[in-house]
Amino acid sequence: MNGPASPGPVADPALPSTESVIIKAWNTVLFDKFCRFRHLVVHGLSRHSEVAFERCAYPAGARLLDIGCGFGDTTVALAERVGPSGEAVGVDCAERFIEASRATAAQAGARNVRFEVRDVQQDTLGGPYDYAFARFGTMFFELPGAAMRNIRRALTPGGRLTQIVWRRREDNPWVHEAERCVTAIVPVVSHENTDAVHCGPGPFSMAGPDMVSALLVAAGFERICFERHDCDICIGRDLDEAVEFAMALGPAGEILRLAGDEAERLRPRVIAALRETLARFERPDGVRAPSSAWFITATNPA
Ligand SMILES: C[S@@+](CC[C@H](N)C(=O)[O-])C[C@H]1O[C@@H](n2cnc3c(N)ncnc32)[C@H](O)[C@@H]1O
Repeated sequence: MNGPASPGPVADPALPSTESVIIKAWNTVLFDKFCRFRHLVVHGLSRHSEVAFERCAYPAGARLLDIGCGFGDTTVALAERVGPSGEAVGVDCAERFIEASRATAAQAGARNVRFEVRDVQQDTLGGPYDYAFARFGTMFFELPGAAMRNIRRALTPGGRLTQIVWRRREDNPWVHEAERCVTAIVPVVSHENTDAVHCGPGPFSMAGPDMVSALLVAAGFERICFERHDCDICIGRDLDEAVEFAMALGPAGEILRLAGDEAERLRPRVIAALRETLARFERPDGVRAPSSAWFITATNPA
């Protein structure tokens, strides 16, 4: 482990407490679901991050921050890229993801990595870092402006943020087809009308380039670029698994979970509809559907 000892979290009392329902969701029900489908999630999301890593060319010796690091596989991959003279620090609001990340690093024998529980919207992130990176880790913030400002302040002058986020849902049939199917059958319960924990703004909250570039400019970033990257993602080794995946994760999984007993009653219809919809993505090597992401880069002024 390199670098200075990390400071503890410092919470701004004006911001939501770290006990927010979104953080609770990531530490409980969403963590459990991600674990169940970890093999699909990590493989699928890596199809985007591997291309992003090739394009970023992180130099040996660089210090990197991995935002919303999940299981820590990207943090370990980044640490390998910057070598023993560099360091990658993974932060996530969910303690259970951080425990899983530490296990990932231990299994990989990675020494130049460190993981900390941090709410990126309000906690001190350490640094300064030469680069910040997020693979689908920035779309669930209640306060994205506060989060982007906090990330920028943790960068060196000239430091660069790269975030991978989903483009619009219509270009992401890997989750949107299931969402369409489920909303046609199950009544949607909005976040305002439930006491259940939920995932926050959701996976498509950063899909609009105008909104996101305004957010980044307001947070003090410059040289903002959007690059589109499309690829197919495996959503199940067979159709049964693809249906289970759709009913657990993504917008369809959230709609079903928040609908509670009503979703349970409608379950046979939902399964039949999902089987029919997802069958068109069946291939000899699994169920594969198109996905589309933005690689968004932004620089902290020098
Ligand atoms: C879709 S997962 C992506 C995880 C990982 N980056 C990956 O690609 O596998 C989103 C992650 O962001 C984390 N997250 C959500 N809100 C956060 C916050 N305010 N601060 C830090 N992490 C957050 C969640 O706990 C979760 O691990």
